[in-house]
Amino acid sequence: MNLSLTHQIALVTGASSGLGYACAEGLAAAGASVVVNYNSHAEPAEALAAQIRQQGGQAIALGGDVSNEEDVERLFEQTIAEFGALDILVANSGLQKDSPIGEMTLADWNKVIEVNLTGQFLCARAALRQFRKQGTQRNVSRAIGKIIHMSSVHQVIPWGGHVNYASSKGGVDMLMRSIAQEIGGEKIRVNSVAPGAIATPINASSREGEGTNKILKLVPYGRIGDPVDVANAVVWLASDLSDYVHGTTLFVDGGMSLYPGFQDNG
Ligand code: NAI
Ligand code: BGC
Repeated sequence: MNLSLTHQIALVTGASSGLGYACAEGLAAAGASVVVNYNSHAEPAEALAAQIRQQGGQAIALGGDVSNEEDVERLFEQTIAEFGALDILVANSGLQKDSPIGEMTLADWNKVIEVNLTGQFLCARAALRQFRKQGTQRNVSRAIGKIIHMSSVHQVIPWGGHVNYASSKGGVDMLMRSIAQEIGGEKIRVNSVAPGAIATPINASSREGEGTNKILKLVPYGRIGDPVDVANAVVWLASDLSDYVHGTTLFVDGGMSLYPGFQDNG
């Protein structure tokens, strides 16, 4: 059993809060050196990197908008300049801009697709180019590189009032599987994690008041997820313990994707 990520370099996008933050912590705890990417909130990202260093690990915080090609290229260049290589990408950044379909603006549609889908494409492309450059010479893991996309249960569960978001995550599923099919022979592993309802800032407003109870009706396992639930899955997918897992989505959702509304005859 080897969950260790010692001598490996990981880049986590959108790691100044929520799932990205927990993934960066988890990867560092498993021994990886971590790049903590942030878009606009440098402070929590810097603080997390400092905390990891204090605990004996290696980490830096780097800014960059994943939907901007130049930013992404710079982010990867700075990662290589700092750590010399890249072994693990967690393409985590994402956002919601919710409204009923009739009122959804083109700007809100575009923004969500640009960050949640185009951002994942740009980061995956930059990562695999770097993995190809490194080839087999690093010898720190059985695969020459690992890409983990942060998807959502909404890659399969349609979501009224959030059609831009659900479309972006449906796109992430096809993006992940198509890349995995195309480059699998190169020993680059590509997978997704699809969380259900996890307590982070992205859904803070929907958990207010009666919100949590409403969400719990959709979770057979009976609790809202913690960011660490997702981080644990990401660390496993990044490690050699999952070396034969390729082109798969790991649902971390307490059973949300079981359509619990049909439990009692529908
Ligand atoms: P969050 O709002 O705490 O984190 C989102 C992160 O993405 C933030 O750090 C934000 O700065 C970053 N980000 C946004 N736009 C960016 C950009 N242009 N460039 C770089 N970074 C950017 O929310 P959470 O929950 O941690 O979300 C992380 C990912 O998990 C997202 O892709 C989200 O869709 C996904 N997810 C979350 C679930 C949940 O229940 N919390 C469930 C399923 C998926
Ligand atoms: C969304 C959250 C939501 C969860 C379950 C995620 O993709 O970002 O807001 O709570 O799915 O519906």
